[in-house]
Amino acid sequence: SIAPMLTKLQRDCATPLPVLRHVADAMADDMRAGLAVDGGSDLKMILSYVDSLPTVNEKGLFYALDLGGTNFRVLRVQLGGKDERVIATEFDQVSIPQDLMFRTTEDLFDFIASGLAKFAQKEGGKFHLAQGRMREIGFTFSFPVKQTSIDAGILIKWTKGFAVSGTAGKDVVACLNEAMERQGLNMCVSALVNDTVGTLAGARYWDDDVMVAVILGTGTNACYVERVDAIPKLQGLKSTSGRTIVNTEWGAFSNGLPLTEYDREMDVESINPGEQIFEKTISGMYLGEIVRRVLVKMAEAGALFGERVPEKLSTPFVLGTPHISAMQQDNSKDLQAVGSILYDVAGVAAGAPTNVPLPCTSSLCRINYFPNLGCLGTKSGTGRSSFRKSSVTQCQVNSDLSARRIVVEVCDTLAKRGGRLAGAGIVGILQKMEEDSKGTISGKRTVVAMDGGLYEHYPQYRRYLQDAVTELLGSELSKNVVIEHSKDGSGIGAALLAATNSKYKH
Ligand code: BG6
Ligand code: GLC
Repeated sequence: SIAPMLTKLQRDCATPLPVLRHVADAMADDMRAGLAVDGGSDLKMILSYVDSLPTVNEKGLFYALDLGGTNFRVLRVQLGGKDERVIATEFDQVSIPQDLMFRTTEDLFDFIASGLAKFAQKEGGKFHLAQGRMREIGFTFSFPVKQTSIDAGILIKWTKGFAVSGTAGKDVVACLNEAMERQGLNMCVSALVNDTVGTLAGARYWDDDVMVAVILGTGTNACYVERVDAIPKLQGLKSTSGRTIVNTEWGAFSNGLPLTEYDREMDVESINPGEQIFEKTISGMYLGEIVRRVLVKMAEAGALFGERVPEKLSTPFVLGTPHISAMQQDNSKDLQAVGSILYDVAGVAAGAPTNVPLPCTSSLCRINYFPNLGCLGTKSGTGRSSFRKSSVTQCQVNSDLSARRIVVEVCDTLAKRGGRLAGAGIVGILQKMEEDSKGTISGKRTVVAMDGGLYEHYPQYRRYLQDAVTELLGSELSKNVVIEHSKDGSGIGAALLAATNSKYKH
């Protein structure tokens, strides 16, 4: 009874050309409606107040803070102007502690400011700072913020599983300033940017054809360069260049997506039900969790792993997107790596015919096990002979080769849907730019700067995304659209924007 479940999943997740076309058109329509008035569509179309992009003439020492999805980074960037460009970048990176996502605003910003203080200390007088001046920071804060100027903005709401209390409705730069004061740090924020905006600025520094930036990581979002006169809700605000970057917050898009019962259940049980539906369908935080939900259903209703449903597999988010990507990279005949990942994360023993010991991470037995023998229980010494049988039963749930093949199919189905929908979203943005600028995009090289762990580490997803772009645009036109990985560009981008918007420029 598993085969029909898989067929139904594939049917529900299908993204044939008409579905992609609908998504691209709806994305373009929602963009227009969001530019017309605040609240005009699911897409917030947030004004970034970035209307002059980096020019390569930026000079000086700047700091950048990058609070993204998975990691927090502090950077020091030395800009040398036209001839020398970026002279040096140093950085510290830590993964964001899970518990901070549920604590108070002060806890989160103290964490950021203390990371900055430790890092800034290492500067140790190496660089000159003119009397009476403060070091300037470009702050990449990757959540929906209603910008009120280039260096201030109010958090609208948290996304990506964050539930820090008391921050929504507050100016995040003021929160950072208070935390910096508590640390005795004399620094100031000159530019507050979304990660997409930082990525666009960073990539544009090297390539004038960059018009769009997309993040596909824990969360997802896109920004692009818009004509000021195509933004009715701007109401008289001026931009010297006539252009500005708009942060779409496309994670909130929801129009015409091919969703399944698993998506709906995950959404209902999430901390932000009804919100960020595109993000929940295509981004790294959720892909593994959707696969897990499908596998649990298949184990319950179709005995995918034998009689019992593996207990560990019932824990939400135990299966991550890195796991499903790793399973899809297994090209072996008997899918051994799939078996061992299933064992590691879900306690599902693999029945592969081999004697290579694998580490057992089941909560009941933290010992090595042999895939063809299953878990042997407690261990009294080293080597195979020292394994004794015990009453441990958790490891005896099996995944045979056909089960492992189905698991890979499920991963592929969701990666395919995610990648193709992301591709359709990108085409939607290009379409909107094209229609409004009457043919200045087509016939011209246009670069989409891309960053985020999902794009970087999931080759199949990347391929599906590119396929969808090519299918939608046709092979000729799609040659003009270059999707370029701009790894960690948002940090340097934020530093560049701090330089462009320096408080000491005049
Ligand atoms: C990083 C950028 O490379 O990618 C961040 O510097 C961005 O600004 C992040 O938020 C997104 O990826 P992930 O996988 O960490 O969510
Ligand atoms: C979430 C945030 C958005 C960010 C994206 C990628 O969607 O709301 O601001 O750009 O994740 O990190």
